[in-house]
Order: sequence, then structure tokens, then C-alpha cells
Amino acid sequence: MFTISNPSLSAINSAAKSLIHGALVGIPTETVYGLAADAENEAAVARIYSVKGRPQDHPVIVHIGSVEYLNKWAINIPDYALKLAKEYWPGPMTLILGKSKIAMNFITGGQDTVGLRVPAHVTTLALLEEFHKLGGNGIAAPSANRFGAVSPTNAEAVQSELGEFLDQSRDLIIDGGQSLVGVESTIIDCTGEFPTILRPGAITEEMIAAITSLNVKVTKQPKIRVSGSLDQHYSPKAKILLNGNVSIGDGFIALDVLDTPQGAERLASPRTLEDFARTLYAALREGDKRGINRIVVIPPDGDGIAIAIRDRLARAAR
Ligand code: TXA
Ligand code: MG
Repeated sequence: MFTISNPSLSAINSAAKSLIHGALVGIPTETVYGLAADAENEAAVARIYSVKGRPQDHPVIVHIGSVEYLNKWAINIPDYALKLAKEYWPGPMTLILGKSKIAMNFITGGQDTVGLRVPAHVTTLALLEEFHKLGGNGIAAPSANRFGAVSPTNAEAVQSELGEFLDQSRDLIIDGGQSLVGVESTIIDCTGEFPTILRPGAITEEMIAAITSLNVKVTKQPKIRVSGSLDQHYSPKAKILLNGNVSIGDGFIALDVLDTPQGAERLASPRTLEDFARTLYAALREGDKRGINRIVVIPPDGDGIAIAIRDRLARAAR
């Protein structure tokens, strides 16, 4: 098997070496699992695209070990972006900034910006530290799912999404347990006067405003390409119905205060919004695994992470 669990420091070091040599590594993060490659290795990044079945012109996020690597990848960093980085990294937040020379077209999708994030997961931070020690500047990692499918939130889901497309003799998957947040990072465009949310996540509009003391904008239709902002995305095989009528045999996902309609198969009963985010993708996957054709989801009300949950559900339902 090529999944490694509870990796020792030496296993992490050898995974970092594999990345330097052009291999792909499935990595745990607090949001979702990523499929990683050396962000300066064009051939390795090209393999990410083919393993995911993703269009070539979509940009990928570069993951770095700490805010110190920001200047390697980005230029013209506004003050507010630096404040956000210092406050919320490591964490579920991606900053879009002007790109430096090392951010090549195969990372940026030909745009003049680059997306950067320091993920909050001990194993992946250790991997990044080892990778930086070996001279690497950053790890490109989109979510470790086939294009348009549900992001994986555990190592087993990475294996079932991508295992058959990976090269068992050199690629590997690191098992770092269940992702704690469960939905992808907040993407913030920091190239303008004001921060603009391109994709909602666990770092909310209020949290951004609190640190920057600026008006935060929220974009519905970003001008720059964000594959997570395509109308249909994050979809399981089952048809997702929001608030729909429940028929016998349908899957059902809702807060635990809501009872399961008669004849439905309960796939998740989260108690809190955080729980909802953490368990949603695994519950959708479970529905597919059981061969359920339709899953009815009751989207949670409220602010905070509920906004990200509703965003992903709306896209999954299209
Ligand atoms: O939580 C996350 O962000 C996860 C983990 C693995 O870090 N990654 C993730 O990557 O969700 P991905 O590729 O599935 O989604 C990242 C989004 C894409 O929609 C991509 O288009 C956008 O970020 N993106 C990356 N660089 C960009 C840029 N320069 N300008 C605009 N959007 C960018
Ligand atoms: Mg994705």
C-alpha cells in the first residue's frame, strides 16, 4: 500500500524528498486533503492536472510553511494582506496576490496573481518544513478529488478518488486523520484596495473585517478563474436536492434537531454548524457508496461557516 499513517519524522522527510524528485503526495490539511507537487516542477504539476482530470488553465494554490515564504511568491503585498496572514495562518485561508517571478504560468493559469496558503495540520506543516529545508519553495495542491467531484476529507477518500490514477511506485498518500474544518479554505483576493472574498470558508467576512478594519467585498462572479466557483462543482454521483420532498430510499442530511423523514436513510446528523461542515463531504460520499440516487439536504441557517456550507450545497445541487 502506498498510504502512510502516523508518519515518523523520517517518513515525512522521505515524502519531502519524493516531492523534490517530482512525485505526487496526497496531503492532509485542516480543510480538505490536497494532491501535492513541487510548485516549481512543471512536469509534476502537469501530473496533478492529469490525475485530477482538471482543465489545464485553472490555477492551483501554493502551500508554504510559514508567512516568511510569502515574499518568495508574491509582490506588492498590501498591508491588510500581511495582517490577515499573520493573524490567520496557519489556517483555512488562501490569499490571492500579485505573483513573483517564481510563480510560473503552470501555477497561475497564466494570470498575474498567485494563491497562497499556510495549512494548519501538524503533519503537513512538518512536511513543508522538510521540503523547505531541501530547497523547495512551495507545494502546489488542489483538493485531491477528480475535477468537479466532492473534496476528500480523509485518506481513504483520497485513495478511492485518485488511487487508480496515481503511480504506486512513486506517489503516496499521507493519512493525517479526518480534516477538522471539512470545507475548502476561504479565498480572498488581495489585489485591490479592499479584500474580496472569492470563495467563502471558515475565515468569515466578519473575521476579515475585524483584522483589516476595511470593508470586505464578496464576489458572486469572480473575474479571475476559480474552479471552485464554477456553477457546478463539489458534486457526488447522487442527485442533491435542497429542502426537497423526501421519497423512500432517499439519503437525508440535516442538523440533528430535524427528524429523519419516514423511509429515508440518514447520512449525517450534525449537532453544530462546525460539525455540519466537518461531516458533509464524507456523508455525501457515504451516500454514493450505498448507491443512493438522491440525497436531500436541509441547509443550515445562520452566518459563519453556514455561509460556506450553503455555497457548496448550492453548487453540488446544480
Ligand atoms: O482548502 C483548500 O483551499 C484546499 C486545500 C488542499 O488547501 N485546496 C483547494 O484547492 O481547495 P482547489 O484547487 O481545489 O481550489 C482552489 C481554488 C481553485 O478554484 C482555483 O481556481 C483558485 O483556488 N485559485 C488558485 N490560484 C488562484 C489565483 N491566482 N486567482 C484566482 N483563483 C485562484
Ligand atoms: Mg477543489
